Amino acid sequence: MKNLLSIEELTGDQIRELLALGHQLKAERGNHSTLPLAGQTWALIFSKSSTRTRVSFEVGISELGGRPMFLSTRDIQLGRGEPIKDTARVLGRMIHGAVIRTFDQQDVVDFAAYSGIPTINALTDLEHPCQILADLLTIEEQYGVGSWKDMKISFLGDVDNNMGRSWMWAAKHLGFTLALAGPEQALPKADTLAALACPNIICTTDAAEAVRDCTVINTDTWISMGQEAEKGTKEKAFFPYQVNNELLRLAEKNHCVMHCLPAYRGYEITDEVLEANAPIIFREAENRLHAQKAVLYTLATSKS
Ligand code: CP
Ligand code: NVA
Repeated sequence: MKNLLSIEELTGDQIRELLALGHQLKAERGNHSTLPLAGQTWALIFSKSSTRTRVSFEVGISELGGRPMFLSTRDIQLGRGEPIKDTARVLGRMIHGAVIRTFDQQDVVDFAAYSGIPTINALTDLEHPCQILADLLTIEEQYGVGSWKDMKISFLGDVDNNMGRSWMWAAKHLGFTLALAGPEQALPKADTLAALACPNIICTTDAAEAVRDCTVINTDTWISMGQEAEKGTKEKAFFPYQVNNELLRLAEKNHCVMHCLPAYRGYEITDEVLEANAPIIFREAENRLHAQKAVLYTLATSKS
């Protein structure tokens, strides 16, 4: 594994290996026998805000022996229009790896190609692979590492966003049932579903259908970073997909609610539901650190 650019490009086995390593690194925190990033500098190149991703990568890189270097695109020449392929060729000669949060997936793909150094997608408009790995790790902790095929997971709200798309590829690779529920305009387009060709993904405009007998209920903001102008027009159509106690009455008894955060209480999730699920939601945030350390470790030690 040379880069982590998307969940789409991983295989089920690669996901399972990353999760197993994530559990191991979590158990060994503070006591790692090898530090694969020793002597290395990894840049975090961010064009969007971040709390969890930035902090978990800075801490994770340090804990594996490396030095993180945070570069806001407001400060570097990329923000003034220097092409990504030039930035990549410069940084590729100085640093050992890059973690990129940006808008266009192609920028992450181009950075990886032109820099030649391990590159990690820390969120684009297309996918949020690091978050999904942390979410899968959290689900394995909560319900045991068993057969993903027996699990029903739902994602409600803006289902064709970076989180929803990453969930779809995870369902394709691991085989769990994924029920996506949102207003018609937010459902994945026919060509996306055709590319996935995945019979275990259900798309519906009926929130109740998605949540019925479901074990893990996920949601995310209805307004992703970069979509702020759509706030007024978008929100009204999404309220039937709010994760609230009334809807959760349909879920499996042993269910949990997850949220990648930041959460907008009163919109995609009620305060009551978020607080009732706070232990798992904040463990999910913590697991960003452990899952990403597994990614860093794998990229730093991979031969191919
Ligand atoms: N979930 C997530 O990526 O959080 P940040 O935007 O704070 O990094
Ligand atoms: N879909 C959200 C995820 C935030 C972590 C966004 O892109 O803003």
